[in-house]
Amino acid sequence: MKGGDVEKGKKIFLKQCSRCHSLDAKAGHGMGPNLHGVVGREAGSVPGFHFSNAFKKSEVIWTPENLSTYLKDPRKHIPKNNMPYCCLEDPEDRRHIIAYIESELK
Ligand code: HEC
Repeated sequence: MKGGDVEKGKKIFLKQCSRCHSLDAKAGHGMGPNLHGVVGREAGSVPGFHFSNAFKKSEVIWTPENLSTYLKDPRKHIPKNNMPYCCLEDPEDRRHIIAYIESELK
């Protein structure tokens, strides 16, 4: 999961994710949960967001590898989840976006 390009990842995030998700620790939740600190966190565990039962029951930990599997096909990875998004198919794009998400955590 190494070698993603943060700038490319940022562009993809702004285009495809930011209307629902913020990475800013000070921002709240949008239509999707705030993603600040998501890497290493258990799925559906951030306080204040109304997650689907699928997420609440899931015991997935958001490692970079799991994020990649999820974004490739969210409904396949966590069936019946509520994220209206499909799919980030290009493995390079997934590497970039995960590099960006990780870079925003520091
Ligand atoms: C139209 C809104 C929307 C878009 C676009 C969207 N998401 Fe989501 N996302 C959601 C919702 C809603 C959930 C919670 C799903 C649930 O509870 O089943 C979610 C959940 C997540 C989670 C799990 C968070 C946690 O704390 O467990 C991650 C990671 C995530 N999205 C990443 C992304 C990325 C990266 C993109 C862009 C490639 C994206 N999402 C695009 C709405 C969206």
